[in-house]
Amino acid sequence: MARTPDVHICEVAMRDGLQNLDVFVPTDAKCALIDAIVAAGVGEIDAGSFVPPKVVPQFADVDAVMAHAVQHKGATIGALVPNFKGAERAIAAGVGAIYFVISASESHNLANVRRTIEEQLDGFRAVRAALDVLPVQNRPRLMGAIATAFGCSIEGEIKETAVGRLARGFAEAGVDEIGLADTVGYGTPGLIKDIVRVTRHEVGAKMPLRLHLHDTLGAGLANAVAGLDAGIRRFDAAVSGLGGCPFAPGARGNVVTEDLVFMLERMGLSTGIDLDRLMKTREILARHIAPKHLTGHLHEAGIPKALRSAA
Ligand code: COA
Ligand code: ZN
Repeated sequence: MARTPDVHICEVAMRDGLQNLDVFVPTDAKCALIDAIVAAGVGEIDAGSFVPPKVVPQFADVDAVMAHAVQHKGATIGALVPNFKGAERAIAAGVGAIYFVISASESHNLANVRRTIEEQLDGFRAVRAALDVLPVQNRPRLMGAIATAFGCSIEGEIKETAVGRLARGFAEAGVDEIGLADTVGYGTPGLIKDIVRVTRHEVGAKMPLRLHLHDTLGAGLANAVAGLDAGIRRFDAAVSGLGGCPFAPGARGNVVTEDLVFMLERMGLSTGIDLDRLMKTREILARHIAPKHLTGHLHEAGIPKALRSAA
């Protein structure tokens, strides 16, 4: 049996990466991307959002994409949901993980899901209750995603207490994992450590924590290292650095999966991911997505041959 990787990476290009694009990526290309990402050894994929097609047209085909994705038994297939209805659809699709999003910023939460944080927590409790009546083997893992945890394009600085309060709300409502999302990419290494510490203080050391980083100001990898220093071993990332929130103007792409994998492996931390295979996803993306959206240091620099086998 393959050993458990030191660092768990969830690939989010299929969701965060596609939600902000102005082109519709055809369903078969989305499925091919998922296949390529799984083939590269990625253990978890955020494969789309169960939102109204009117809100994010890119996910009009999410039922078909998920029906394909969940056939992969070697990877956890997850979906973002903004409300109870989204969770019902995700459960019906047979996903293995549900990411329920609430922003630490009240203004961003209102813009994103048209509800207050408290109303959104009520929705989360209803989702928890609906999951708890499912047989354990059919019960998706429920992650509470805290958007704008490190800053907000509308409110600016977000108080540590606001993140802590929301984390505690999620924990008290029975979340399985908490994701701390730098939705707009204003985080700095010091802030990452502070927010992780505050969150741990609120929810206890046993709660799994995950970091979701954007590279808006070029600090994505530095923030990932700060997360590692703070004990985080679960990260979201997107191939070719895709990503951005339609309700967070100014957000740039996610931390680039290829770059993150290379860095981690060079640091001696295994990811279980075959970097050469992962790099090939660029070819599928490039058929449908304009070059300006595709970033990544490794793609620009290439991997020096001497380092390739080590990575
Ligand atoms: N999937 C499909 N349809 C949904 C839905 C979902 N998850 N949630 C609501 N709807 C439908 C309702 O059934 C209703 O349909 P009807 O008009 O035919 O009756 C309609 O959408 C409006 O429902 P309502 O509950 O009033 O939603 P809203 O207009 O207040 O919008 C959200 C709330 C949460 C659905 C919307 O703001 C949203 O999707 N936000 C997420 C945005 C996003 O993806 N952000 C990036 C990721 S963080
Ligand atoms: Zn994001």
